[in-house]
Amino acid sequence: MYYPDDVVEEVRSRSDIVDIVSGYVKLQKKGSSYFGLCPFHHEKSPSFSVSPNKQMYYCFGCGAGGNVITFLMEYENYSFPEALKVLADRAGITLPQQEMSKEAKAQADLRTTLLEINKLAANYFHYQLKQPHGRVGYEYLTGRGLSDDTIRHFGLGFANKTSDDLYRYLKGKGYSDRILKESGLFTISEKGTWDKFWNRVMFPILDTNNRVIGFGGRVMGDGEPKYLNSPETKLFDKSRNLYGLSFAKSSREKYFLICEGYMDVIAMHQAGFTNAVASLGTAFTTQHASLLKRYTNQVILTYDSDGAGVKAALRAIPILKEVGISCKVLNMKPHKDPDEFIKNLGADAFRQRIAEAKNSFLFEIEVLKQGYDLNDPEQKTDFYTEVAKKLLEFPDALERDNYIQAVSREQFINYQDLKQLVSRTAARLGPAWAESRQRAERYGSYADSVARTPGSGGAGAGGSRDGASYGSRSGLPLAEGGMRGPGQRRREKDDGAKQSQRLLLTWLIEEPRLFEKIRGIISPDDFKDGLYHEVAEMVFEAHEAGTVEPAAILNHFINDEAQYREVAALFSASLKESLENEQQKKAFVETVIKVRKHSLDEASRTAADIGRLQEIIKAQSALKTLHISFD
Ligand code: UTP
Ligand code: MN
Repeated sequence: MYYPDDVVEEVRSRSDIVDIVSGYVKLQKKGSSYFGLCPFHHEKSPSFSVSPNKQMYYCFGCGAGGNVITFLMEYENYSFPEALKVLADRAGITLPQQEMSKEAKAQADLRTTLLEINKLAANYFHYQLKQPHGRVGYEYLTGRGLSDDTIRHFGLGFANKTSDDLYRYLKGKGYSDRILKESGLFTISEKGTWDKFWNRVMFPILDTNNRVIGFGGRVMGDGEPKYLNSPETKLFDKSRNLYGLSFAKSSREKYFLICEGYMDVIAMHQAGFTNAVASLGTAFTTQHASLLKRYTNQVILTYDSDGAGVKAALRAIPILKEVGISCKVLNMKPHKDPDEFIKNLGADAFRQRIAEAKNSFLFEIEVLKQGYDLNDPEQKTDFYTEVAKKLLEFPDALERDNYIQAVSREQFINYQDLKQLVSRTAARLGPAWAESRQRAERYGSYADSVARTPGSGGAGAGGSRDGASYGSRSGLPLAEGGMRGPGQRRREKDDGAKQSQRLLLTWLIEEPRLFEKIRGIISPDDFKDGLYHEVAEMVFEAHEAGTVEPAAILNHFINDEAQYREVAALFSASLKESLENEQQKKAFVETVIKVRKHSLDEASRTAADIGRLQEIIKAQSALKTLHISFD
């Protein structure tokens, strides 16, 4: 944290969340909350709520949640100090300058300066296109069919053959060697400093706030490498940005197109497909998928039609599925990539291919088939068995049956025969196998084993959003009664205890009068889960002091994304009914008992002496006759 807690809290409490969010999302009042379409994932009916009482937002669809500060951080891609500054300015609060640690201030300044440098460089490259030296670049781009409008829209440019003109230009603006080095635009050696990009047409890469964060450059002619990209810098993280997203995010289509190259994105946008994006010379990652999930839940892969493109598609499909994006695969044949396709067959033909794009599962089956010689009876049997195994990856029986139908239709296999084969295969391999396969599928490791792209890097953690929401995501096993070890039973019990603690916290936030009911029964120490314990301490303390302000408590977790998501979910979960209802009262008492019992059980396991143990046993039996009155 760069600022003292009370400064952060002052800025937060003087920024009304409904005010700020309605600048971005159309909100409608419903009861004590406001609702609108979630800006962090694609949806048709509003599940994004803003609570003026709690000063928090929460999406019941995707689990995004937080306070006014995290909203700006997420929506605007701001760092914490950037978001705080914007809110402070709005509220007329002057942030203390010196409170930022030297290190932190240097980091913030560095980011700002690097953005400035990138912007100047982009303008410089763009300007060169219209200069005599840049003519070759301009002619190259127009020769590839790009209009002046497109060139301007994407801010394309040219890095000419002079080896240090950009360097001299930026030095002239007063930037130090140290900072220029951090921009990734230069090669610095004992012999001197050179422009990294030369004799290349330049593609500036923008983040979702339209700020230039890096570049790709295509060589003129046949040099190596064909495309050179900015290295990773303080601003530029290839696995978290997509080329074209700054434009595609405002496209009206409900699906996105994902392709491989800069020129593909540009060709598609020029032809009217403004929903196209590309990963930047790297494999598609989980972070890319989470980023896209803010805007859509449907994509069409338009990767190259060659072997590498197929491999890239096989790899991307489970990654997309994992975050809840369904996908299809477009057939580009006989052309290599979208750019060539559109140039040769036009936009209408491409639109037709979009309409005909293949469901990703059927695409995977099609690729699988190519590994077998179906004229050979043995291989044909093997292929069918593999198909049956893949079908078993669908945990839901109805969905599985839909796919059995589709595969039998596409592959000309008798439906009843295929259905039987799937059941027999399930029986032969056992439920444990299917479950582990489904799990592997969900976490993408299956695709990795099928098609690991060299040097693609791991999928990373990412996607913590789902982890914060309440819904259980565990897929149903195919049959009941799979093998369960004691370890698993223990875990389930812990999950149950955790769930009760979470529920109790939610209750206390929603209905502060309940604090009175549990006085002397429950204390923060009964919340055994590390995070919940921390939250409980703050909630109880705030209650003692007067009022519980969830959004203020949330500030303490702002530096840990996974934690603040979980706490936001905790504070935002709504109880279906209030305690007017008898059943709810019973449920509340049961929850209190569960939390306390788990706490006592754990204490008895770690009790230091007989005296302590006796106390615990007494408390345990008292719990059996616990009565809470609601009158
Ligand atoms: P391709 O080699 O398929 O190029 O690379 P392309 O898009 O068809 O390029 P043109 O049409 O010949 O200009 C696809 C993408 O892979 C990345 C780039 O992002 C490129 O757009 N790439 C390719 C690199 O990063 N480095 C390379 O050397 C080559
Ligand atoms: Mn191409």
